[in-house]
Amino acid sequence: MTEETAFRRLFSTPPGVRLGSVELVADGKARNLVLEIGDGRFHGFIVRQGQAVFGYVDRCPHAGLPLAQKLDDYLTPDGGMIVCSWHGALFKIDSGACVGGPCAGQKLTPWPIEVIDGVIRTN
Ligand code: FES
Repeated sequence: MTEETAFRRLFSTPPGVRLGSVELVADGKARNLVLEIGDGRFHGFIVRQGQAVFGYVDRCPHAGLPLAQKLDDYLTPDGGMIVCSWHGALFKIDSGACVGGPCAGQKLTPWPIEVIDGVIRTN
């Protein structure tokens, strides 16, 4: 077993983890975050719209793949929707609902986060 495969894949995080300043994610953009928690790794991404942040587990409901093939490339060119780079599924930023593509009617798994005093935390 390699060091890479020794990590369990995690699909949630404990509450209260400080992820950093809201400035970690540029306004109107998205960013990937990987958290090592014990012997596990959590892969998620955050979309920021002003002071609002939306977090999701980085796993497409269609085939279970991470959405972005290029780092932080989670949004449509106009920044209006989340897009999966594999087969083009489109998701609403505020709800994670899939509104087009092969998993229409399904949802991204929410990653509960919030901004308190300019700091993004899990909740
Ligand atoms: S894996 Fe996301 S659309 Fe197919």
